[in-house]
Amino acid sequence: MSSSVASQQLAQRRGDYGFDAPYVPIIFLCVGLAVIVLGLLAFWLWQSPLWGIICLLYGVYMLLSGASYIYTTRRGKFQVWAELFVGLNLRGDEQILDMGCGRGAVLLMAAHFLNEGKATGVDIWSTSDQSGNAREVTLKNAEREGVAKKVELYTADMRELPFANGTFDLVMSSLAIHNISQREGRDKTLEEAVRVLKPGGRLIIADIRVTKRYAEHLRKLGMTDVSHQLLDWRFWYGAPWVMTNLVKANKPL
Ligand SMILES: C[S@@+](CC[C@H](N)C(=O)[O-])C[C@H]1O[C@@H](n2cnc3c(N)ncnc32)[C@H](O)[C@@H]1O
Repeated sequence: MSSSVASQQLAQRRGDYGFDAPYVPIIFLCVGLAVIVLGLLAFWLWQSPLWGIICLLYGVYMLLSGASYIYTTRRGKFQVWAELFVGLNLRGDEQILDMGCGRGAVLLMAAHFLNEGKATGVDIWSTSDQSGNAREVTLKNAEREGVAKKVELYTADMRELPFANGTFDLVMSSLAIHNISQREGRDKTLEEAVRVLKPGGRLIIADIRVTKRYAEHLRKLGMTDVSHQLLDWRFWYGAPWVMTNLVKANKPL
């Protein structure tokens, strides 16, 4: 099977993965519609074509941002992660950790690659960060995907992971670390990720906002092959302010 066929098959999901930060697309769509109405009023009521055009352009831009957000959270992020997993060439016996796994979009995809290995998810199950977020929902999704036996879930804060040093071959996180508002907390999360990785283990983070800072901190922590790259439009939550970046790093042997 070619890698593009494999990633397309993986992106077809049987679980129900909700919406990331569901209030955000609602804000995009409401602001877009309101500004378009203002634009129409500016044309016809206030006879101001300049403001009319500015408002219409801004309104359409906000609607497109809302559409991009919904596409990413429902479809695009699955396609991108499926391609990333295919590129990781997993053996199947790995211990994998997903920090901020939510309803399991990435965690359960990882579990599809495992036979003897285990996919472990930690989360605090915040429903403002993901709609309908709950441990039971993730367990149900694991059953629907047919991977429940390979999955373990913990209710824990990623700043204090409940695992011994050197437990995991792969630590990953998707759109979760930015939810920690303080820089110290995000740094602590990266330190925890490095701590629980086995020597030679891999770290892969997809996130928005301060991802260059993640790469810098990982270098300070002694991680090697640290890379930072912009992911494509399928993983954008409305451009240009919420484009997702990928940070990869390895723990030295
Ligand atoms: C936008 S959701 C992404 C979920 C999942 N990774 C995905 O891609 O579908 C962010 C997740 O991070 C979790 N989260 C936020 N802060 C956390 C923390 N300090 N420790 C563990 N999980 C956290 C939220 O509960 C939520 O499930």
